[in-house]
Amino acid sequence: MPAFDFEDVFGDDYLHFYAPQLTDERSDREAELIARLLDLAPGMRVLDIACGHGRIANRLAALGCEVVGVDRSERFLEIARRAGQPVDFRRADVREYAPEGEFDRIVNWFTSFGYFDDATDRAILAGWRRALRPGGRLLLDQPNRQRLFQRLAVDGSTVALTERGDDLLVDRTRFDAATGRTETERISVRDGRVRRYRFSVRTFDLTELRGWLVDAGFARVAAYGGDGAEFDLRSARMIVVASV
Ligand SMILES: C[S@@+](CC[C@H](N)C(=O)[O-])C[C@H]1O[C@@H](n2cnc3c(N)ncnc32)[C@H](O)[C@@H]1O
Repeated sequence: MPAFDFEDVFGDDYLHFYAPQLTDERSDREAELIARLLDLAPGMRVLDIACGHGRIANRLAALGCEVVGVDRSERFLEIARRAGQPVDFRRADVREYAPEGEFDRIVNWFTSFGYFDDATDRAILAGWRRALRPGGRLLLDQPNRQRLFQRLAVDGSTVALTERGDDLLVDRTRFDAATGRTETERISVRDGRVRRYRFSVRTFDLTELRGWLVDAGFARVAAYGGDGAEFDLRSARMIVVASV
C-alpha cells in the first residue's frame, strides 16, 4: 500500500488550512456545477463519497436530493451533521462500503479517489458501478495531470505553500513516473511546531481513467474542466462523468 498518513492528512491541519479556501461561495458554485453535470433532480438518491465535512452533501440535500454521505473521519462527519440538513451521514471506509443498485448518482469530489494501490482503486470503481441503478452516473473530480506536468517539468518537483497567519503548510510533491502517482511530503508549522507526514495519490490522464471506468463496467465517459466547459490541456481540473 502506498505511504499515506491518513489520520494526519485528514485531521486538524486539513480543517485549519483548507477551511479558509473552502468558502461557502466556492462550495455553492461547486454544488451547482455538480448538479448541472449530473442532471440532478429532487428525489434522486445520491451518494457523496468521501464527503468530508459535508460541504457538498449538505448542498445537494438542500436541492431536494436524498443524500447519503460517507467518510471515515468521525470528526469531519460531526461537522457535516451540524448543518442540520436531512443527510444520512455514515462513518465507513470507502473500501468496505458496498451498497448494491441503490443510487441514481455518485459524487466523488475534490481529489478523493486514487489513494490506494491500483487493484484496490479499480475495485472501488467496480463497487461504485454496482452501487448505481440503471441510468445511474458517477462523477469524479480529479486534478488535470497535464497541468501538474507543466509545473513539474522544470525541476521534477513542486512546492506549494499555504499560509494562515503565521502558520504554514508546505507540500513538496514529486511525480513517480513508474507508478503514475504524486508523492507528497507535507510539512505543517503551527504555533512554531513542525510536523511532517506523507501522502500518495494516483493521477490519471483522461484516456487511462476512461479505460479504468470501462473496465469497471461503465458504458460512457464524458470529461469537463473545473468550470464545466469541455476538458482540455489547460483545464484546472478533470471532472469525469461516467454513465451506466
Ligand atoms: C480531499 S477530502 C474531500 C472531502 C469532500 N469530498 C470535499 O469536497 O470537501 C478527502 C476525504 O476522504 C476521506 N477519506 C480518506 N480515506 C478514506 C477511506 N478509506 N474511506 C472513507 N473516506 C476516506 C477523508 O476523511 C476526507 O474527508
